[in-house]
Amino acid sequence: MSEILTPGEVKLRDGRSVGFANLDVAATAPCLRVVADAVADLLPYYGSVHRGAGALSERCTREYEQARETVADILGHGPDDTVIFTRNTTDAFNLLARAVPEGTTVVAFDAEHHANLLPWRDAVRVPAPRSPQEAIEALARVLHGLKGRNVLVSVTAASNVTGEVWPVAELAEVAHRHGARIAVDAAQLAPHAPGSLAGLGADYIAFSGHKLYAPFGAGVLAGRADWLDAAEPYLAGGGASAHVADDGTARWATGPARHEAGTPNLLGAVAIATALRALRDRDLATTEQALLRRLRAGLAALPHVEELRLFPADAERVGIVSFTVPGRDPGELAVTLGRDHGIGVRTGLFCAHPLTRRLLAEATGRLESGISEKSEKSRRGAPDFSQSAQAVRASFGIGTTEEHIDRLLAALQ
Ligand code: ALA
Repeated sequence: MSEILTPGEVKLRDGRSVGFANLDVAATAPCLRVVADAVADLLPYYGSVHRGAGALSERCTREYEQARETVADILGHGPDDTVIFTRNTTDAFNLLARAVPEGTTVVAFDAEHHANLLPWRDAVRVPAPRSPQEAIEALARVLHGLKGRNVLVSVTAASNVTGEVWPVAELAEVAHRHGARIAVDAAQLAPHAPGSLAGLGADYIAFSGHKLYAPFGAGVLAGRADWLDAAEPYLAGGGASAHVADDGTARWATGPARHEAGTPNLLGAVAIATALRALRDRDLATTEQALLRRLRAGLAALPHVEELRLFPADAERVGIVSFTVPGRDPGELAVTLGRDHGIGVRTGLFCAHPLTRRLLAEATGRLESGISEKSEKSRRGAPDFSQSAQAVRASFGIGTTEEHIDRLLAALQ
């Protein structure tokens, strides 16, 4: 029995049925069976968290707080840290952005996902580096120039566009040496290396359940409690308030409750904790890296296909590869892959518009200008480069097989 829940076979346009090849795991991962089981086991007892008496409420309150403890434990938290359950990574960064003390300068690279770009108003934007080492050096230069200011650096741990892994532990070391804090977007790293999160040295970590095989609508913001305890509640309402006077003024709760107003997402929290427990000690990398090598070698052999990358080709990556196919409309290509081959991919700019546009332009330029080894073949095929305003992304994880990768390569061929 598969350890993830899958739809099994899907029907193709020609009437045949094939096993679905889900190569869009970076957007939304399938549900781990152990997660679905934990949620199903809890459902008969589903009741009010922190708001009731009786067996159901007691059990649900206990399970919710145990889920928080599991996350804290896996992130290696100390007594000054807190875990807040959010809706997803975007929600987590919006919460953190509201909690950053007045006068703090936020520093972010241009390569970020919108979740870690748009919540920061007036951030110092650092041009996207061309290697992990360049990222470390660029951050050190920027922080040196900001000496004397309170700074929060916010950076991704792994890119949702290229899969490239960022040198977060080194960036954290640079940030701390300059007296700055660092927040990490672990949305794409957490599903591939959950056991590594504790070693990142981050002051704040954000990630999403729906990318962690726990798709029940919850995410996490975890890290140092002081800013969060001092901030206005993210949502004003019941649960966040310790006391409300007759005139409607509130004294707010401290601790995670301050930012979790309204009935919390118990099933989402339990799902995340279950997934983290199930995956933290697993060797996910061996299979994934073998699939990654297979996919990248296959794409490299295809004329007209050019991979997007920011860092050198041999940089460390998770199971995400974006590419351009000049001459083919990406949307139409994705429909063909789905309806004729039973393959799910994502096309577009992947909620990281500045980065993806830049990498697309560079990849197309490589093909056009002859820097790519494939340019001769590409030119002979006379692709229409103007159609490459979007990229195609294949991403994978638990449940992906060699056959899925080979099917994509054969379809692209
Ligand atoms: N940010 C998600 C992705 O990369 C939705 O697809």
